[in-house]
Amino acid sequence: MDFAEFKEAVYRRFGLYLDGYKEPQLKRRIDSLMALLQVPDYGAYLNLLARDGQQWQRFIDKITINVSEFFRNQEIFVRLEQEILPSLLATFRDLKVWSAGCADGPEPYSVAILLAELAPGGRHQILATDIDPGALAAARRGVYGERALQAVTPTRLNRYFRREGDHFYLQEQIKGMVDFRQHDLLKDAYGSGFHLIICRNVVIYFTADTQNDLYRRFYQALAPGGVFFIGATENLFQYRELGFEKIAPWFYRRPAGTS
Ligand SMILES: C[S@@+](CC[C@H](N)C(=O)[O-])C[C@H]1O[C@@H](n2cnc3c(N)ncnc32)[C@H](O)[C@@H]1O
Repeated sequence: MDFAEFKEAVYRRFGLYLDGYKEPQLKRRIDSLMALLQVPDYGAYLNLLARDGQQWQRFIDKITINVSEFFRNQEIFVRLEQEILPSLLATFRDLKVWSAGCADGPEPYSVAILLAELAPGGRHQILATDIDPGALAAARRGVYGERALQAVTPTRLNRYFRREGDHFYLQEQIKGMVDFRQHDLLKDAYGSGFHLIICRNVVIYFTADTQNDLYRRFYQALAPGGVFFIGATENLFQYRELGFEKIAPWFYRRPAGTS
């Protein structure tokens, strides 16, 4: 079985669509894991994945990179806090937000903290999705180490976290604002009517065609006037063709009045 057949078999057996990922890095990761496990070929690896749930989780861990942190790229989150969210709140009042590819939760929780401060008592909905069940379980626990909290101000650290040794426990009120669900951006349906969609440091693993397809679907999932927020190293070069207007670096709006 060659790599293409392995990908096809993974899709048929597990419903995981690997064709959307950039092949060289995907293959490198899978080959290195197989070498570590001393699995001789793709056929044997497929059998192992089919009978051992732990190996499946390890496989998912390997192809998904779960690194995240609160207020990642702090200066961009300042813009979110001071310009983007106030403007969205002025238009829509209660916000419907989607953090797509949320890893273990710092991104949607950062937005929850901002909304708790900017519009306390609002009936906001924050949906956070990821393909990786292990990351989602960690997200629901809401316990972090210092590395994920580097960009959190001392005031917020005191206010929203309880420290026990090296562990920081996120306050229940903030945890309760976020709804975590498993979702595969490459094959599951997207919702609609979102006022803010955040997809940062996720599409970088996908081929250019897949990225464009996802951008079109994010556009459709936004409410008119809603904003799409991308990663610091990403660029939506073709935003005009997709129908977006650029309102600030890393922030793109679906114009109001579009249907
Ligand atoms: C590097 S993390 C980004 C986390 C967060 N957005 C940030 O910027 O800090 C990438 C996340 O994308 C998720 N991911 C990878 N492929 C995915 C897919 N097909 N559907 C949904 N999430 C996916 C991974 O599981 C991982 O948690």
